[in-house]
Amino acid sequence: MNSVLTSMRLAVLGAGKQGRVIGHRLALAGNSVRFGVRGLHSANAAQVLHKHWDNVEVDTIASAISYGDVIVFAVPSEACVELVLRHSRLLVGKIIVDATGLEEGGWNTMNAIQQQIKNVRAFRAFSNISSEVLDRSNFLTIPDLFYCGSDDQDAVNVLNLLIEQLGFRPIRLGGLSEVPLLDSLAKVRTILVEQLHFSSSITLKALS
Ligand SMILES: NC(=O)c1ccc[n+]([C@@H]2O[C@H](COP(=O)([O-])OP(=O)(O)OC[C@H]3O[C@@H](n4cnc5c(N)ncnc54)[C@H](OP(=O)(O)O)[C@@H]3O)[C@@H](O)[C@H]2O)c1
Repeated sequence: MNSVLTSMRLAVLGAGKQGRVIGHRLALAGNSVRFGVRGLHSANAAQVLHKHWDNVEVDTIASAISYGDVIVFAVPSEACVELVLRHSRLLVGKIIVDATGLEEGGWNTMNAIQQQIKNVRAFRAFSNISSEVLDRSNFLTIPDLFYCGSDDQDAVNVLNLLIEQLGFRPIRLGGLSEVPLLDSLAKVRTILVEQLHFSSSITLKALS
């Protein structure tokens, strides 16, 4: 696993706001990143390609999954469930990171991931933090980033390293049974930012 730790191959499914920040910053940290997109000529794919980021390529979803050791889902929750159903065989053996948020009428992505992929090592992470905050690098102190999921120690080490590379201190709240707890933090963040109009930074402080 050490060879994976020094040079990770990541597939980020979805090249929208959240996927681009995660993919770009993890590529800057030295990982090889392949974005998996549904349209190679979409506006989001073009935004990635035009930037000529080092260590970053754009590919089809199936090719990106085949390439990655770690697969980050950064698509809407309904699309995540669709992709898990369609590519469940390709996803066997991968470390899965479910970054999908809590959209209105959203789908239970972690259930689908657990049910469809054999012996899966899956985490819910980055779902409760905005792309703007993930993209910041000027924090006075290292902020905490909560996640939950697999207790496989190799997979936990990989996720902890990725979170540290993004500039956060990883805190595993617990196993998959803690997904509702993590999602409730995401709900608190949404209310603070969208309804009460607190800035993302204050919200981050309140939740870490
Ligand atoms: N943005 C944030 O601050 C934030 C924070 C926390 C969680 N999240 C979560 O992260 C996920 C992505 O959010 P986002 O802000 O990045 O959204 P976005 O900017 O709208 O990007 C969504 C991406 O998903 C792709 N996609 C949509 N439907 C798809 C499908 N059926 N099959 C394959 N790909 C599909 C889109 O493809 P095209 O490029 O072809 O349109 C696009 O690349 C959501 O679940 C959101 O709730 C976002």
